[in-house]
Amino acid sequence: MSIVNSLSPRAISAPESGIVEVLNYARGREGLLPLWVGEGDLPSPDFVNDAAMAALAAGETFYTYQRGIPELRQALSDYYARHFGITLPAEHFFVTGSGMQAIQIAVQAMTSPGDELVYLTPAWPNIAAALEIAGARSVGVQLAFDDGKWAIDLDRIAAAITPKTRALFINTPSNPTGWTATRQDLAAILALARKHGLWIMADEIYARYYFPGGRAPSFLDVMEADDKIMFVNSFSKNWSMTGWRVGWIVAPPETGQVLENLIQYSTSGVAQFMQKGAVAALNDGDAFVQANIDKAKLSRDILCDALIATNRVETLKPDGALYAFLKIDGVKDSRKAAIDIVDKTGVGLAPGTAFGPGGELFLRACFLRDPGQIQTAADRLCDYILKL
Ligand SMILES: Cc1ncc(COP(=O)(O)O)c(C=O)c1O
Repeated sequence: MSIVNSLSPRAISAPESGIVEVLNYARGREGLLPLWVGEGDLPSPDFVNDAAMAALAAGETFYTYQRGIPELRQALSDYYARHFGITLPAEHFFVTGSGMQAIQIAVQAMTSPGDELVYLTPAWPNIAAALEIAGARSVGVQLAFDDGKWAIDLDRIAAAITPKTRALFINTPSNPTGWTATRQDLAAILALARKHGLWIMADEIYARYYFPGGRAPSFLDVMEADDKIMFVNSFSKNWSMTGWRVGWIVAPPETGQVLENLIQYSTSGVAQFMQKGAVAALNDGDAFVQANIDKAKLSRDILCDALIATNRVETLKPDGALYAFLKIDGVKDSRKAAIDIVDKTGVGLAPGTAFGPGGELFLRACFLRDPGQIQTAADRLCDYILKL
């Protein structure tokens, strides 16, 4: 028996990420335009790096608060007042080692082994994997896809709820589909959660990337103070800080001791000097985030307009998030297609097979990138598609 088989069955059965598989295949090739992962082309801004470096130089290298340093929790509170028009005192905020870890902590907080969590597919694969590793079951409900547009079907969500269901995971705007809940969608989902006594894990990490203007509708707009909602969020996308691995949770203050304990027994808190960088991101980063949003919108238009004009791609321009999710005529196996595309065009796309039921025939392209490079990627992709 191989020693691997003596590891925990849950650990062994965690899937390899289908995005990383294709990335590993062509990583580092010359001239590559990497649109496969969800990040932009800019490094973190100097004012963020400088704040972290100053803290490091000042010796801020000791154990710190599990919930996050008070300054950062206050900066998060101020950020929500500015951008979401809501007063949430600092005790609602918990700093985590990435958005991914925020999800992991929320999963641990909400579910026991054997419990179920309902989520919408196609979906970013990590949520289902995090659940399964924790011993809970992920129950995918497919979004409807019609004429290039994604929509929720509330009846299907209701039908997936069983006595074992503990929570709904709602990612809006969605990675990978760009589906963005309306305020009415959110109110209806909340009503369903209330009726069944469920938690909602709200992943609104792309809320600022909302191209009709302003920010996307949020559960914060429809909820009451006593609703069971935990928001998971991240510094990764807004402030170009994917490599920092810093995120946060917004949760009812009554859950604070439980969340603190879960953080204690995982990372025991995020490095204080990195939290100082995060404070700078929040307090001084509004113009930087706006520039990222403007760039994403321009690049979305360049990429989607070109692809739609081929008449061989079923997609609409997404209202939110950072991805074009493309159904290309003639593509029957998106994993094979992603490999063929990167070989023939040098454009790295993520295969839809990585995003679960309903995504198999699609390819995902992240457009948070210099518009000139996106134009080049669009030209190469259109050329490939028209020859299929
Ligand atoms: C929907 C969604 N949630 C959470 C995350 C996690 O972000 P991170 O772990 O980089 O903070 C991502 C990253 O791609 C995502 O797309």
